Amino acid sequence: MPKKIAVILLAAGKSTRMKSAVPKVLHTLCGRPMIHYVLDLVKKLKAAKTVVVLGHKHEEVRKELPAGVTVAVQKKLLGTADAVKAGLSRLGPFAGTVLILYGDTPLLTYETTSRLLKYHTENNLDATLLTAESAKPEGYGRILRDSYAGVCGIVEDKDADDAQKDIKEINTGIMCFNKKSLARALRRVKPNNRKKEYYLTDCIGLLYKDEGLVDAIKTKNTDEAMGINSRVELAKAIAHVRQRINERFMKEGVTLIDPASTFISFDAKIGPDTTIYPFTVIETNVTIGARCLVGPFAHLREGVRLQDEVLVGNFVEMARARVGTKTWAKHFCYVGDSQIGERVNIGAGTVTANFDGKNKNQTRIGSDAFIGSDSILVAPLRIGKKATTGAGTVVTRNVSDKTTVVGVPARFLRRG
Ligand code: UD1
Ligand code: MG
Repeated sequence: MPKKIAVILLAAGKSTRMKSAVPKVLHTLCGRPMIHYVLDLVKKLKAAKTVVVLGHKHEEVRKELPAGVTVAVQKKLLGTADAVKAGLSRLGPFAGTVLILYGDTPLLTYETTSRLLKYHTENNLDATLLTAESAKPEGYGRILRDSYAGVCGIVEDKDADDAQKDIKEINTGIMCFNKKSLARALRRVKPNNRKKEYYLTDCIGLLYKDEGLVDAIKTKNTDEAMGINSRVELAKAIAHVRQRINERFMKEGVTLIDPASTFISFDAKIGPDTTIYPFTVIETNVTIGARCLVGPFAHLREGVRLQDEVLVGNFVEMARARVGTKTWAKHFCYVGDSQIGERVNIGAGTVTANFDGKNKNQTRIGSDAFIGSDSILVAPLRIGKKATTGAGTVVTRNVSDKTTVVGVPARFLRRG
């Protein structure tokens, strides 16, 4: 990896095509804002300096950035060249290679980016592009090559003529520059295009005309170059990230019966020999132990912690719940804001009534308790160890250890 690199990450755009009040780079993929995937890549690259260029709703986006990231605010969204200019102004005396990343290209891998940087520095180039061959190049800038097949410019989709529109080699947007050459080219970019914007892509043609050294490497994996500009593209990118997450878990020893219908967030932790049945949704901040069975049709929401050998079956929803080893909740139930011991049986249809209209209240269930089918547990509530609730019981008061309660509302039946 070349030592002297600085990253300018562009994330100021208004994202008109998303038709959203939420800034584009904060739309999430598997529970995580898009820009965080790019920031992960930046971290791995160990850049000497990173500047994130923000504009549209910059305060909102800034809150999501890790501490210590330098931000440049692009006052008017005049295009990608103007955004890079804003970024350059915060780079200070840095001299070396400037890598441009886009906040809306979250699938880009470390391997490809470092290959680009290596090629650029080894060949001492003024600018190096990452391009891709795409059967559907619509929307992307097209790579123009001269009669020696050398890169000589980029034409944006909106400005391309019919022949240029047929070009299948696209600009991924990821490029690196020698800093001085970039600054020189930026000064000469004019908004002579249909969008009346200052295009970063024009720097390539300008450098070429100046007899600068411009080249490109191609990624074979077109998907990783995907820019997200619409909800349709967002859905496609989510599918990719989901597949990467699922494959990681399978490699770690988790069985996914049907990866295509399994939705696991980026930060889930799942132990080996756990099996996830189809149509299961696992949201952020969830930990699942080893040898658990989850699903089909299970929904594990934020703050769920399952210890080993827990069974969570059909149509079970859990949120903010800690569940002890060998506890079973096998059929349609809701468990929220709860702490459940070991070897507890949670009968079919059990509901923790955790919300009283104002507050979410806690339910605690001791180890070896037996919660009968269709029990309603009105929180705040504590059910003792080895306690039992009868089928259809509405429990409104604490139940002592080894005690059985039945009825609506629950009344004492026996002890022991
Ligand atoms: C851009 C490229 C196009 C490439 C495509 C790849 C230009 C002119 N075009 O087009 O060649 O094929 O990406 O995905 O560069 N941004 C700013 N400030 C601005 C405008 C944009 O920071 O004033 C940021 C956006 O937030 C985004 C990135 O720059 O992260 C790219 O902008 P976008 O509008 O998505 O450009 P594309 O039309 O996708
Ligand atoms: Mg884009």
